[in-house]
Amino acid sequence: MAHIESDGSTVVLHTARTTYALRLEGSVMALHWGDRLSLADAAALPSWRSPFGDTFEGPIDGASDFPTSGFVPPAFSSPLAVEGHEIHDDTLIIRLGPVDLHYRVRPGTDVIERWSVVHGPAAFTDHAAAVWCLPQLEDYRLSHVTGGWAREGTLRRTPLPVAETTLVSRRGVTSHASNPWVMLDDGTATEQSGPVWSAALAFSGSWRITVTRTDAGRCSLLGAAGHAAAGTRLDEGEELVSPVFAGLYAADGFGGASRAWHEYQNRYVRPHAGETRPVLYNSWEATAFDVTEEGQCGLAEIAAKLGVELFVVDDGWFGARTSDRAGLGDWHPNPSRFPSGLRPLADHVRSLGMEFGLWVEPEMVNPDSDLFREHPDWVLHRGPATSLRHQLVLDFTRDDVREWALAWLDELVRSAGLAFLKWDFNRPFTEARPESWVGHAIGVYEVIDRLRARHPGLRIEACAGGGGRVDLGMLARTDQAWTSDNTDALDRIKIQSGYTQTYAPGSMVAWVTDSPNPITGRRVPLPFRFHVAMAGVLGIGGDLSRWTPSELDLAIALIGEYREFRDVVQHGSLHRLRPADAGLSAWQYNLGGRTVVFAWRVSGADNAPLRLRGLDPGGSYADKSGRLFSGAALMAAGLPVDLPFRGEPVSEIVQLTAQGDPFTEQESGVSDPSARSK
Ligand code: DGJ
Repeated sequence: MAHIESDGSTVVLHTARTTYALRLEGSVMALHWGDRLSLADAAALPSWRSPFGDTFEGPIDGASDFPTSGFVPPAFSSPLAVEGHEIHDDTLIIRLGPVDLHYRVRPGTDVIERWSVVHGPAAFTDHAAAVWCLPQLEDYRLSHVTGGWAREGTLRRTPLPVAETTLVSRRGVTSHASNPWVMLDDGTATEQSGPVWSAALAFSGSWRITVTRTDAGRCSLLGAAGHAAAGTRLDEGEELVSPVFAGLYAADGFGGASRAWHEYQNRYVRPHAGETRPVLYNSWEATAFDVTEEGQCGLAEIAAKLGVELFVVDDGWFGARTSDRAGLGDWHPNPSRFPSGLRPLADHVRSLGMEFGLWVEPEMVNPDSDLFREHPDWVLHRGPATSLRHQLVLDFTRDDVREWALAWLDELVRSAGLAFLKWDFNRPFTEARPESWVGHAIGVYEVIDRLRARHPGLRIEACAGGGGRVDLGMLARTDQAWTSDNTDALDRIKIQSGYTQTYAPGSMVAWVTDSPNPITGRRVPLPFRFHVAMAGVLGIGGDLSRWTPSELDLAIALIGEYREFRDVVQHGSLHRLRPADAGLSAWQYNLGGRTVVFAWRVSGADNAPLRLRGLDPGGSYADKSGRLFSGAALMAAGLPVDLPFRGEPVSEIVQLTAQGDPFTEQESGVSDPSARSK
């Protein structure tokens, strides 16, 4: 059970399976982060000091939980001393003069949330959310993701240099280039085993995570909002609250760390994680800016026959938005495309048995728009701005801009009876006012939070030119995320693997689109495209008016199959059985006594059975044909792979059901989310 204990100078925070221990001795010293330790054991641990003397060293560099001196990146720019600490249920607060450090254990998970609050009057530059100190390891390896538009989530595993390594977004948004999480190990952990330490920052503006490895052998992780320290002055009564920089220790490899992050998000971060996300249709790849009421009605009629449950009209429905050059900011239906407004289309979609949703990009404006002509001062750029996709960023640190956005969004949701918004963001900041790099994202959070409060039934998809704004801050106020504009199924295996390193598969939207793929030009068989998209929240994004009758029949069958097992994918625990870059890649999901295995062969002739994970060794499992397998054999010898290599990508999905009493996966401590109380 999660609990916090203190003997006055040593404090231990117990998560479901781990312990984080601190010593309060003037400053806050990190004592232990790893497997369970009792308070007495932690109290007996020595405080760490550099073995190399004090002359040229910071004596506790790399072991200070909130460093304000020494030669590591400071968490705060003036000296701080411990004045006391309090424990309230699952939360520890350490008081350090003007700064309070918060630590919150999330019961049933191994995640500890940390953040810091500065109380005015105070003047400072550096202000970290938290600093996580690893135990001293023989070596350190850093795992993280990099990328760009249409290539998000490239997993990198590199030896950690003795240096300050900063992962950063200087773009005012989470970014495609890097994502605010890290995993560290000693170089020997695998997907299935070995200790892994991880931290993730819940912030969607500019951010930084600095991983510091000292020559004395320590490693620490500093997370902060903003790409650089910024001078801040708080008056009496004012306070500045940092984002959460959550930390997690997992003893069972990178896969174990991923499952622990997913479990945490599903229990504590995502607002409606217990819901099962509908199969959606999105018009973007079919019609781009060529949106008409008649065309969308036609697509909706086909989508409904396939089993689609949510129909989403993407860009091009409003203002003079017939290309990306004009109309952003003018959020009223284009009168020549929707002469009677959106209601007729929305009602038609609903009459077909689907919910209706729309694309919006509230933070942006085309200079060629009525909004910009009326309010040229509403953009955040100072002076002439670099033009990116012919659009500028509206300044959400301004009260009037936020009120304007909330008013039209509220009216749009109300008037069209929207069930869903895809909230896009298609350019990073340039030439921004200094306060915008952090403040804009906080303004966006406020607008989303207020909109959700007014429309509790509204569901929102986070999007930023694909997966450019996926992080714990955005996932806390949206229901799903558009993973990437790259819908090529082969590329998607890697992109989706990168996404699920940290983020829950139940939030990962994946569309089946046309072949050849519009971005890569690659031809991939339709079943393979479906089988890759069915590993997340399934959507259809192709031009259905051009699909053949046999393709439509296949789509009906595969959407039906997905609806049979999607609760396992969206709420279950994920085991990535084979790497994303293997010729034969494979994933497995478990929920209760149900298992779904995905096998995707891209190349090669590897037919090695897939050794499954997290089953009941004493149980037996039946596939859909009634063939029986023992749990022990599936885990020790593996599930036979039946994928003849025909020179083109081939794939299969195997559903297994436990016979007799359902077994809840125990080995990783992951609980059955269907039994969750939220
Ligand atoms: C970028 C998104 O990622 C796409 O899916 C689409 O919505 C376009 N924007 C529309 O402009």
